[in-house]
Amino acid sequence: MKRILVMASGKGSNFNSILRAISDQRLEAEVVALVTDRERAGAAAIAEEHGVPVIVIAPSNFRTEKEWADQNVSAVKALNPDFVVLAGYLKKVDTEVVKSYKVLNTHPSLLPKYGGPGMYGDRVHKAVLEAGETETGVSLHRVTDVYDEGPVFAQKKVEVKSDDTVETLRDRVKEIENEFLVETLEKVFSGELPFPD
Ligand code: GRF
Repeated sequence: MKRILVMASGKGSNFNSILRAISDQRLEAEVVALVTDRERAGAAAIAEEHGVPVIVIAPSNFRTEKEWADQNVSAVKALNPDFVVLAGYLKKVDTEVVKSYKVLNTHPSLLPKYGGPGMYGDRVHKAVLEAGETETGVSLHRVTDVYDEGPVFAQKKVEVKSDDTVETLRDRVKEIENEFLVETLEKVFSGELPFPD
């Protein structure tokens, strides 16, 4: 049974999909806590509904970025999870955490395309449409010190349709992402898919 710590800032559909897979016994894991930088994140409400402890570490509650980062490091160390899953977490994870723990992120494009600072949420899908891409997708990668650049260990393609809007594309990618994340975690936890060093 893997102990996972989820970090999220947003709606939490990926987090929800992990929790569902655990209760359906598809995923042999336990979510030890949700860490969020936003008290009102949808993900926090989802955690509460499922009885998952929520740890809010909001930058506005700290005097400096460093104090905020140190608090995150302490939280992760105290829980000592097997994996840290970033499911729509918008802040950068401290170097100490990415070096000492297996941290993975899900990103809604075919990395290295459409990744990096500022490339999140609808901005990704807008850029994909503006570039006239015919396919996009979902990438799961190990998190390193460089934003969105850690080794990709799983990708799934998603067709871009000629009449797609940012909204239709976002929704189609998200639906596929919710399932792909769980499928991939199953493989990583069972050892079928190696997690990059
Ligand atoms: C996902 O599309 C993920 O790829 C990105 O942020 C989004 C989070 O969505 N990193 P949700 O909060 O899980 O619904």
